[in-house]
Amino acid sequence: MHFMLFSLSAFLLSTIVTIAAPPPNAGAVVNLRIEGAQRTIFEGPIFTRGHNVTTKSGGNHHCDGTNNNENPKPGPTCTSALDDASKRKNFSFDGTYFPEFDDFFITSIDGDTQTDTQFWAILLNFQFTPVGGCQQQVKWGDDVLFAFDGFGRAHYLKLSGPKIARQNRPVALTVTDGETGVAVPGAIVAGQTSNTEGKVSVTFSNLGIKNLKAEKADSIRSNRLDIHVVQ
Ligand SMILES: *[C@@H]1O[C@H](CO)[C@@H](O)[C@H](O)[C@H]1NC(C)=O
Ligand SMILES: *[C@@H]1O[C@H](CO)[C@@H](O)[C@H](O)[C@H]1NC(C)=O
Repeated sequence: MHFMLFSLSAFLLSTIVTIAAPPPNAGAVVNLRIEGAQRTIFEGPIFTRGHNVTTKSGGNHHCDGTNNNENPKPGPTCTSALDDASKRKNFSFDGTYFPEFDDFFITSIDGDTQTDTQFWAILLNFQFTPVGGCQQQVKWGDDVLFAFDGFGRAHYLKLSGPKIARQNRPVALTVTDGETGVAVPGAIVAGQTSNTEGKVSVTFSNLGIKNLKAEKADSIRSNRLDIHVVQ
C-alpha cells in the first residue's frame, strides 16, 4: 500500500515536471529561402529541429547549435532547416566540414556550386550570421536565407506591398534592402522598375494570385510577394 502510494505520487510528480519543463530541442517553423544563381530553389515555411546532417564532402555531424559550444542547448539551426527542406523537396546540397568550427561550409545547393569567387552566404533576418549554419540557432518565424554569390552584393532585396489588389487598379509596391532598410531604385518587379524611393506601381488585368519578386543584376533577388487580384 505504501509502495503504491509512493509510486502514484512519483508518477504524478514526474508528470508535473514533464509538463512544466520545456521540451528539449522542440523545433521551430522558419521562413526558409534559397536564392540560386538563376532561380529561387526554395521559398516557404519549414519545420526544423536540431539533428545530425550528412553531406557527401563533409560526412555526418551534429547540427543543433551546440557545435563549437556556440549554444548550451540543442535547437534548430539554419543548416538543419536547409537539410529538412532538401529532404522535403528532394533537392541535394553539399558542404565541407571544418573541425576548427565544428561546422559545415555549404558549397552547393541543387546544382548551384560555388566557384573561386562566388560562395553561398547565410543571412538570418537579413543579417549575415556571425557563425556557421550549424552553430547559428533559429527561432519561430525567423527568415533564413541561403544566397548564391551572396557576399558583397549591392543589395539584399525585400519586396513589400498589399496582399490584395483590385483588377485594373494600380498598387504601390516597395523595394528596399532588407539588410540596411534603404530604398532600392532600379529593381524590376513584374516588368516595372522601382523609382528613387524604391516604389513600383503595378496594375493587374487578370484575376487570381500573382507571385512577385524584385530582381536587380547586382543584388540578391527578393522574397516572394503573393498578391490576390480581385474584382
Ligand atoms: C551525430 O554526429 C556526431 C558528431 O557530430 C556523432 O558523434 C554522432 O554519433 C552522430 N549521431 C548519429 C545518430 O549519427
Ligand atoms: C529524388 O531525386 C533523385 C535524384 O534527382 C531521384 O533519383 C529520386 O527518384 C527522387 N525521389 C523522389 C521521391 O522524388
